[in-house]
Order: sequence, then C-alpha cells, then structure tokens
Amino acid sequence: MIGSLFSLARPLIHRLDAEMAHRLTVAALAAAPALKPAADDPILATEAFGLSFPNPVGLAAGFDKHAEAIDGALGLGFGFVEVGGVTPLPQPGNPRPRVFRLPEDEAVINRYGLNSEGMEAVAARLAARRKRGGIVGVNLGANKDSADRAADYAILARRLAPLADFLTVNVSSPNTPGLRDLQAESALDDLIARALAARDEAGQATGHRTPVLLKIAPDLTLPELDGIVAVARRRAIDGMIVSNTTVARPDSLRGASRGETGGLSGRPLFTSSTRILAETYRRVEAQFPLVGVGGVDSASTAFAKIRAGASLVQFYSAMVFKGPALVSEVKTGLVREARRAGASRIADLVGRDTEAIARGEGL
Ligand code: FNR
Repeated sequence: MIGSLFSLARPLIHRLDAEMAHRLTVAALAAAPALKPAADDPILATEAFGLSFPNPVGLAAGFDKHAEAIDGALGLGFGFVEVGGVTPLPQPGNPRPRVFRLPEDEAVINRYGLNSEGMEAVAARLAARRKRGGIVGVNLGANKDSADRAADYAILARRLAPLADFLTVNVSSPNTPGLRDLQAESALDDLIARALAARDEAGQATGHRTPVLLKIAPDLTLPELDGIVAVARRRAIDGMIVSNTTVARPDSLRGASRGETGGLSGRPLFTSSTRILAETYRRVEAQFPLVGVGGVDSASTAFAKIRAGASLVQFYSAMVFKGPALVSEVKTGLVREARRAGASRIADLVGRDTEAIARGEGL
C-alpha cells in the first residue's frame, strides 16, 4: 500500500529539491497512522548486543534526524530504527543546498553537517513514545563549535542512554570539519572511555546498560582500522557500524551533482563499504557484532553484508530511489537465501564469505 503510494508520488517527490523531499517524506511518515507490520518469519530473528531483533533490517541514521517519525518507520517493517545524528545543543548545519540526488548512480551526496534540534528535543520525543516498543537507537554527534568534542559524546550518552535501546558514537560524518580525526587511536580511546563511563553512570539508577556502538568511515586505511578495532576491543564496546558515507568519488559517477562536496552514499558505496566491513569482521574475531550499511538496495546486497560479517544491516539511500516497499522485498529475499543455504536462522550465515569479500571477490 505505502509502496504503491510511493510509486505514484515518486516523480513528484523527485521534482522537488532533495532536502524538501526529505522533509516531506519524514512529515508524511510522522503523520501516517501507525501501521502494525506483519509478523516476521522466525528465521530472521537475530540477537545482538543483548537485544532481540524481529528481523535484521534497519533504517540507517540521517533519515529521521530529530526522532519525529519513529513509529511510522517501524510500521514499514524495519526491525530497528536509528534516529539522529543528534548533537547536545541545537545547531543549524551547513547552508543550503546541502543534499543532492544522483539518479543515474542511485546515489546521494549530503553535507547536512549534523543539523540537529539538539538532545533535549529528541529526548522529549523518545520519552513520549518509549512505551510503544520497537528497537530504537540514537546516533550521537558533536557540536561543530564544541571546545571538547569528546565531552559532547559523554553528555549525550548520559542524557540519552535511559531513552534508547542503543547509542551510536558517530565519529565518521565527513561534514563536520575535524570530526573524523576522532577516529585516531589515542583520541578515540579517550572518547570511548568517557562515553562508556557516562553510559554506565546513567545506568546506575536503573540497572540498565545501554549498548554503545561505534560507527566508522569507509575511507580508513587498514592500519587505521587496526587501531580502531584495538580500541573497540580493549574498551569492550558493544558493536560497530560499518560504514558511514564516503568522501571518495568513483570514476563511474554520472550524476550532474557528482562534483558536490559531502558524503556519498547509495549504490557506489556498496563495494568499498562491504570490503571494509569484512576487514573489520576479521579483526573483531567475534568479540562483538557488526552492523553493515552502505549501498544496500536489494536482498542480495543485504545478504552480501551478512556474508561479509554483519549481524544486522541498515540502509537509507535506496529508500530514496526504491521507496518503502524495499523493506519487505529485502526481508522476503533474506528468508529465501537462508532457506536455500539450509540455515535455520539467518544469523548462522554471518561471516560465511568474509575472507573472499576482503580479497575483493564474492560480491
Ligand atoms: C546520512 N548518514 C548519517 N550517518 C550518521 O552516522 N549520522 C548522520 O547524521 C547521518 N546523516 C545522513 C544524512 C543523509 C542525507 C544521508 C544520505 C546519510 C549516513 C547513513 O546512516 C549511512 O551510513 C550511509 O548513507 C550509507 O548507507 P546507504 O545510504 O548507502 O544505505
């Protein structure tokens, strides 16, 4: 139903400026009557970081930045939703235009720059719907003008841990100058230590320990990845999300906006983000689960993330081109893949082809 509405509306939506189209889509989902999606096939049920997901397909950060449309998104059938990025204080982000569609490439370039209504606005919305259930994570980002960015993550973790099912430390958005430098080993170690301490402090009153995940860029070198995974393991982080958007511009890009500054997402990100996912999985050695994101636009690309080592997958850009019907399409295809492989749970196939994918084969 929502899928056919999208097919009808897409030509109109795509005639609008990309940010206006984004805002209208979020508003439509926020206003839509909360749908109860059909129960998922139990073969898709997945356990990760202490949470039980009805299916492993999630909505990536950046779509619902201000936590306005959580129930609408869950109603599309996503197994979990990540809202944000959220910053401690409200901030406007970069001047417009700051998001561009590349239809020829089924890609998006954005340089929103973590525009956020701030953590108090998001906390109020999360609190208002908390009892409705569904798995909701919050993506955390530092304020552009913050004097101590690591402290921002601790402030966010303390405030939002009681209201979220998981938190994501996002040090990989390319649109806040210097933010990705926080991925350097010593800076990251300090940041993670402070964020986890704040999370623990927030949980003392309730006895609840909210999982904290780390989201990385796809543009890291392998030695940089070594350092990041070493910190994540040493500090006992709960999981990693691989990956954010890329600053690379593959030669294959055709869209008129390919020269715009910002993070590239969607189909052209698939191969590089899936390879770095496989490289991460090799280094993590099953110490914690991974979330695979970047260019998922079908059941086969979602399954490739799982084969590379992801317990959970997310997508965003493909929703722009294929609409919300993609959620069911991916889930149905994953059920088929699991059955074909003779697995009783999709989770049994995680990491099946890691080595081949890391070598650049098997995608
Ligand atoms: C994003 N993404 C993102 N990620 C993040 O950690 N915090 C954020 O605030 C945002 N914001 C954002 C805005 C827009 C417009 C886009 C397209 C993307 C990145 C997103 O969560 C995901 O990692 C990448 O887009 C790759 O996945 P897809 O889009 O190829 O499925």
